[in-house]
Amino acid sequence: MEIPEKLIQILASAKRVVVLTGAGISAESGIKTFRDPDGLWSKFNPAELASMDGFMSNPELVWDWYQHRRDIINNSLPNPGHYAIAEMQDLFDNFTLVTQNVDRLHQRAGSKDVLELHGNIIDNYCIKCRHPYEDFIDSNVKEMPKCRQCGGLIRPAVVWFGEMLPEEVLINAERASKISDVFFTIGTSAEVYPAANLPMIAKSSGALVIEINPNLTSISHYLDYSFRIQSGIALPLIVEAIKTYRNKI
Ligand code: APR
Repeated sequence: MEIPEKLIQILASAKRVVVLTGAGISAESGIKTFRDPDGLWSKFNPAELASMDGFMSNPELVWDWYQHRRDIINNSLPNPGHYAIAEMQDLFDNFTLVTQNVDRLHQRAGSKDVLELHGNIIDNYCIKCRHPYEDFIDSNVKEMPKCRQCGGLIRPAVVWFGEMLPEEVLINAERASKISDVFFTIGTSAEVYPAANLPMIAKSSGALVIEINPNLTSISHYLDYSFRIQSGIALPLIVEAIKTYRNKI
């Protein structure tokens, strides 16, 4: 991957950096994306499996599907892309990591204070009293747990289609995007809003916006740089180039 010298110079002196990630960052960990040709939504119906209506009409089916996904995630490891982003938090004075992913591989790679726009698949709560469900969830157990407080159904703490994003998380992500010098959009098709707004908020606020994605997206041509490459290959090279440049000057 050829990283333009000018870009390395800008990155080496950047102070406020935001990284937005999507399912693509976890693809090299063996976790399927949603909209790639072999993605989850090519086989499964999001309205049936990732909405409150879908859950209410068939809770066992939805719970089972999330158990299946938890199983895959529990048996997956962060990849070099996740580790490079974890390194970035020490490379820049003001660094913000925003993710659409629910797999917590960023945190397992060492990233701190991750802004999770779409919740996470590890935690669960009661749909009736919203009390967190803290009992251990064995991903091999089929039977659905019930709330110890009110007996209500338990659901994963992910944001489903048609649901509001966690307000404070979104406000912090928008604020960081507005004041960023450099904004990376990595492994996202930029099809789902409001997450897909963030690169454009950064761009219109004067930030340099860099996309890393083996495929073109709906925003590629608006951006300053768009690299057609896997994030697990590109990100370690970018981190290395910044460190080498800083050591030279
Ligand atoms: N490195 C970088 N990008 C990759 C890689 C890789 N190794 N492999 C695939 N990609 C790219 C694809 O080209 C695609 O553009 O990752 C993107 C994944 O896009 P989506 O599957 O649409 O995932 P995402 O953008 O995260 O979806 C947003 O939609 O389904 C909902 O809530 C779910 O958070 C999700 C949201």
